[in-house]
Amino acid sequence: MSELNKIALNIISKGRGILAADESNGTMTKRLMAVNVNSTPENRLLFRETLFSSMGMKECIGGVILFDETIKQTTSLGKSIPDLISSSGAIPGIKVDTGAKDLANSFEEKVTEGLDGLRERLKKYYELGARFTKWRAVYTISDKYPSKLAIHSNAHVLARYAALVQESRMVPIVEPEVLMDGDHSADLCLSKTSEVIKKCFDELILHKVDLSGIILKPNMILAGNQSKDKISKEEISEKTLECLKNSVPSEVPGVAFLSGGQSEIEATENLNLISKNNNTNFIMTYSYGRALQQSALKIWSKNIKDLEKTQNIFNHRAKMCSLAAKGEWSNELENK
Ligand code: 13P
Repeated sequence: MSELNKIALNIISKGRGILAADESNGTMTKRLMAVNVNSTPENRLLFRETLFSSMGMKECIGGVILFDETIKQTTSLGKSIPDLISSSGAIPGIKVDTGAKDLANSFEEKVTEGLDGLRERLKKYYELGARFTKWRAVYTISDKYPSKLAIHSNAHVLARYAALVQESRMVPIVEPEVLMDGDHSADLCLSKTSEVIKKCFDELILHKVDLSGIILKPNMILAGNQSKDKISKEEISEKTLECLKNSVPSEVPGVAFLSGGQSEIEATENLNLISKNNNTNFIMTYSYGRALQQSALKIWSKNIKDLEKTQNIFNHRAKMCSLAAKGEWSNELENK
């Protein structure tokens, strides 16, 4: 077993998943303003430190994705954030892309940037304690999109990113996110997501990326959020499994889904059925941002000094996601 494969398995095995706390300062400011909290470096740290020191981290979170600001911050007790995460048994990770920018010659689409100087930045992040990384590409679905150009460009940069990350002895999370915005059907989401993921693997293979040392972070197969096509949870799990079975090479150790705007309960329930019906060799788990933090953020904003209430909410959410990753979640446990 390679070192990278070991790290990947460590992060996603035994019902553990990933806490995606890597919101850029811009995104975090929007999230904090929505609950009437000032977005200062101190407040961003306080919320994150509160989550990272919760009990829920111990058995439910195998890895935490950080933003550049956070990986360099120190807790009120003088511990570095990567040390705090490691002391709970989880692995620190870092978002390394610099965001999705307009794609030349297809301006309504995006290509993710951040390759310039990446090798040097990776070296610094490794020294700070990171052992895995994330890069997100986004695609929209409409009559004409995603275009071949967007699918090709993003796959190419994702592969170059992944190769550089492995060269730096870290595990790349490869995140091609087909957005749920729009009125498309679940079947269209299935065919477009399959095309996107297949192209990513074509490029990963071309760039000689060790597929046993990556984690794939895809969207689930859902109907667009403005679609009249309401599909059942069973269908979501069937179509998601069909997509992954047909487009992901067997060497990949696991899949950690993004929540992508689903509610906390939807993201939990859908993962639970996917894991229950999992007829692939891949581990299925979560790499949630909003679906792990939304309720905790709401409670915290009412009194940012009351850490216990925030931690209780987070512990429950993390526990429910962990049960879902094992296919053991139920409504009764959710509401107990
Ligand atoms: P959400 O779970 O909120 O979609 O965030 C996951 C993520 O990391 C997006 O890049």
